Amino acid sequence: MQVCHTIREIGEFVQNARAVEKTIGLVPTMGYFHAGHLSLMREAKKMCDVVVVSLYVNPLQFGPKEDLGEYPRDFERDCAMARSVGVGAIFAPGNAEMYPAGYNSFVEVAGITDKLCGLSRPGHFRGVTTVVAKLFNIVRPDQAFFGQKDAQQAIIIEKMVRDLNMGPEIVTLPIMREADGLAMSSRNVYLTEDQRRAAPVLYRSLCAFREAVAGGERDVAKLRRDIKEMILSAPGVQIDYVEILSVPGLEPPDTLTGKCIAALAVRFGKTRLIDNMVVEV
Ligand code: PAF
Repeated sequence: MQVCHTIREIGEFVQNARAVEKTIGLVPTMGYFHAGHLSLMREAKKMCDVVVVSLYVNPLQFGPKEDLGEYPRDFERDCAMARSVGVGAIFAPGNAEMYPAGYNSFVEVAGITDKLCGLSRPGHFRGVTTVVAKLFNIVRPDQAFFGQKDAQQAIIIEKMVRDLNMGPEIVTLPIMREADGLAMSSRNVYLTEDQRRAAPVLYRSLCAFREAVAGGERDVAKLRRDIKEMILSAPGVQIDYVEILSVPGLEPPDTLTGKCIAALAVRFGKTRLIDNMVVEV
């Protein structure tokens, strides 16, 4: 596995792969890998000849009071994990490589970015779409792989690719969960033991939502209230949002029809976790 820190190095790697007609899959990440990241890499390996994983904690998508400084990092462990699933190259640039002095270009998708996480994290998605657009230009992948846990992010990236006629096909893969249902996330390491014990309430509330819908419930306000009530029964939680929206438009439906997502963000102390469940009516 090749480790590239510069755009030139990864450019050469990609060019060599293309010269022998290999297809390229890109898995954009911020590192600190867990089974969710590995499932993206494995799927990329199945679908593409060569897999490039970008590993970059993108400062542009963190707010001034967010966890950029504390974001967990373990480069050696990440490299070993990526190597174990047959990744061809890691692209791990520094900030000066991605945003050199005088950098002043940004990519912004309007509308669907100013709800859910966009409301509580202003500027977050502008940072995501800017770095992902740069990664697409640098690697020029045939396919790019994202996790359904960041459902809004995946919808926004698909929209950016469509709107701006970008190359890669976007592949979104299911949420990977711990045995007790907690969605895997690099941020789970922030949880105290008590918070970790309480956190599976998020998945339980989403399963109850899915069961209620399967049982015929269509009242969005009631479904939303029930999710909130179940979450608030756990100790020390603070709800950032619980929303039920249409997919992919992310509009609030009066009554549940078509494809909808129940999406939530909840704080356990200082740790903000997100999760979601898609239902089709
Ligand atoms: O989902 C993430 O880890 C990040 O938002 C991404 C897509 C790698 C962009 O920095």
